[in-house]
Amino acid sequence: MKIDIVSVFPEYFEVMNLSLMGKAQAKGLLEIKAHNLRDWTHDVHHSVDDTPVGGGAGMVMKPEVWGECLDELLGLSQQSDSVPAPGIAADSDADTNQSDDPVSAANTQSASVNVPVSSDGSPAESDMSAQLSAPVLIFPNPSAPLFTQRDATELSHAKHLLFGCGRYEGYDARIPDYYRSQGIDVREYSIGDYVLNGGEVAVSVMLEAITRLMPGFMGNPDSIVEESYTGEGALLEHHQYTKPAVWRDIAVPNVLLSGDHGKVNRYRRDEALARTAEIRPDLIAALDCKALDKADRKT
Ligand code: ADE
Repeated sequence: MKIDIVSVFPEYFEVMNLSLMGKAQAKGLLEIKAHNLRDWTHDVHHSVDDTPVGGGAGMVMKPEVWGECLDELLGLSQQSDSVPAPGIAADSDADTNQSDDPVSAANTQSASVNVPVSSDGSPAESDMSAQLSAPVLIFPNPSAPLFTQRDATELSHAKHLLFGCGRYEGYDARIPDYYRSQGIDVREYSIGDYVLNGGEVAVSVMLEAITRLMPGFMGNPDSIVEESYTGEGALLEHHQYTKPAVWRDIAVPNVLLSGDHGKVNRYRRDEALARTAEIRPDLIAALDCKALDKADRKT
């Protein structure tokens, strides 16, 4: 899988060379490149943001800079956004931006990507491996739908992911709109109901959730099969214990020492159901009844 990340802090992603992510890169399973958005600026200050049109606090990331960057990384023909002469600060009137300029025939850099299928219809988990041969453009955004294990599973089958990290008050809304209009599969995701300083942490979270699901990424693939949030009947995981059987006067549940796999499985399933009902009743409400068996109904 090819992964491009665009950020004003590309150094942030040096940690991707560590641990399992680093190993996956060494094995050739992943190719991660972090790009500096400022490399696509043309003014002396390398500015990437401007004041919000309509007023308000903070700064908004400019569409022209993102446009040039994303056109290049997606292999799309470059648009004719006006480029100020080198050394002259960019005109900061965002009202005049024309992000839907027609394609400049004279400035066609490279071949267009295949037009991808829209991702709006959410595919069944079993169909997911067939999807996503075209690039997926992902923007972390606290005002977007929540990123879930289902999204991670789907995206783990992609060939090319391109993440755009916003900063400040976010990015100009025309950026995702424009790339959608060009047939690109654009996703915006929040990683939780809180606001971070920028998208970098959110991208790291999503990347880890996605890449660990890629075939060949985990040493022991069984370890991802029974995890929380996996599958149609997603439940929180039961508690785990290791040896010794008693630690500081606290014993592991007897049934786990019984050697009776049927009883152990039943105990774990009951615990998963009870914990989920207590901690995440929303997951119980969303359970597909087909994912329950008769014994579950007694729990
Ligand atoms: N950027 C800032 N906060 C975020 C969040 N909660 N999720 C995704 N991107 C963000």
